[in-house]
Amino acid sequence: MYNEEIERAIARMAEVAGYLWQRGWAERNGGNISCDITEWADDSMTQSGSSYGPFALGRCVDRLRGASFLVTGTNRRMRYVASAPMENASIIRIGDDGLSYRIVSGEPIRPTSELPAHLAIHNYLRSVGRTRVRTVLHTHPTDLIAMTHNPAFLQKDRLGTLLWSMIPETRAFCPKGLGIVPYELPGSERLADRTIEQLGDYDVVMWEKHGALAVGEDPVEAFDMIDTLSKSAQIYLTARAMGFEPAGMTAGQMDEMKEAFGL
Ligand code: 13P
Ligand code: ZN
Repeated sequence: MYNEEIERAIARMAEVAGYLWQRGWAERNGGNISCDITEWADDSMTQSGSSYGPFALGRCVDRLRGASFLVTGTNRRMRYVASAPMENASIIRIGDDGLSYRIVSGEPIRPTSELPAHLAIHNYLRSVGRTRVRTVLHTHPTDLIAMTHNPAFLQKDRLGTLLWSMIPETRAFCPKGLGIVPYELPGSERLADRTIEQLGDYDVVMWEKHGALAVGEDPVEAFDMIDTLSKSAQIYLTARAMGFEPAGMTAGQMDEMKEAFGL
């Protein structure tokens, strides 16, 4: 139905939605994914002829005028995004005013309640020229969320450095570490703003007591960074459950990784 590139983007989103469910990170409708598909947008997106809207955006997304996004629907289950993606996600097109959008993919599936954060991030990524970074992924990884309930871990770079030190791969594959966004109401413009503040320095952030958010070239890249951090969290928690504080790699060992991998 859609052109080859859009079909590929849908398949990738569905693949990763399945991973989120399998990981236990997607209770009920938890989590959401958006992909900038503007580059591949064509008439195949609107074959059914029907579109819905316009729907108002809370604020202008200046750089996204006319842009198209594949977005999971609000209240939709990741397990069903995996099995029937276009019954649980839609394609939206931002109006030329940058203040509204229309659902163009045929079914009136309203996008995620976190749309303000997703669009603000896509807008930000374009403004800094990171045009290949087309995916924003938000999910609820139990282990990482639990760690944000400890105020000590909310200090800048404390959690990221701890997680780096649990296994060399995390240092290598999540090289920017982990940003922290203090608690804000889900779906709010404030949450969007505070997330953007972190994205200059980090590709993955934790929303305190809520979830993780990653940006990447595609959903797999975004997922893999969160998965790697979750592995570190599991090592930490397993050591604590065995009754000891894990020693962690030394600063010297982490520096060695940094040099060896040119990070
Ligand atoms: P949506 O169902 O609106 O995407 O919300 C899920 C969620 O995780 C909100 O943070
Ligand atoms: Zn959430």
